[in-house]
Amino acid sequence: MLVIAHLSDTHFGGKGDPVGRVRRVLGHLASLDPPVDVVLVTGDIADHGTPEEYAEAAAVLGEWPGPAPAYLCIGNHDVRPAYAAMRGLPPDRPTDEAHRAAGHLFLMLDSMVPAPPGERIDHGVLAPETLAWLDEQLAARQPGERAFVCLHHPPERIHLGLMDPIRLENAADLAEVLDRHDDVVAVLVGHAHSACALAFTSMRRPLPVLIPGGVVSTVTMDAEPFKAITTELPPTYAVHVVDDAPDGGPRIVTHWRSLPMP
Ligand SMILES: [Fe+2]
Ligand SMILES: [Fe+2]
Repeated sequence: MLVIAHLSDTHFGGKGDPVGRVRRVLGHLASLDPPVDVVLVTGDIADHGTPEEYAEAAAVLGEWPGPAPAYLCIGNHDVRPAYAAMRGLPPDRPTDEAHRAAGHLFLMLDSMVPAPPGERIDHGVLAPETLAWLDEQLAARQPGERAFVCLHHPPERIHLGLMDPIRLENAADLAEVLDRHDDVVAVLVGHAHSACALAFTSMRRPLPVLIPGGVVSTVTMDAEPFKAITTELPPTYAVHVVDDAPDGGPRIVTHWRSLPMP
């Protein structure tokens, strides 16, 4: 069995006490017994993408005591050169990363669209370079090795007026790559700031797309009597539990949690 703690949208440097909320979630996760196997943070690590924000992010995320590794990907609020510097990656190309933990492959994709300094582009695109890299990484696995594809932008509409126009633009290209590979368990994304799940229906055999909600703020449903983005709701995250289905394939179960702030 594999247990993944999935958080997203830490927005260091933004409103709503990111440091306190991230510490609250990581502190709770650190108390789990048995511990989780891996921690994922799917983008919008920083709010404006300044080096100071990444220094704070590295310090606070660095408080995670392990032993589970923590893997990150970039989001639309992140700025590629500063994010890449924090991750020790080249500044001028997509910040894709592949990691193996507990016998599983985690592919952390870069779906952000670089903008001129001081500007931000909010929708997502997977560059041809990233799609080719994903295809290669999935093809190079040992037979039966299970993989998770992680990125910031949801690939389909999720019925949030704020988020649907700024989802992943070239979802069909991602679906085309994933359709070529078995044993991808799920697509794990962020950006939505709303704990939800959907099927990636652009695929021939749709994978689940799982979204943990936001650590720092929540994007509300249009029908709810809240502001479109609120910090009045508590931090949320997801725990994905993966084991074997009766046919031998992977089965994933997700538990969402919200944690009251002290
Ligand atoms: Fe975000
Ligand atoms: Fe985002």
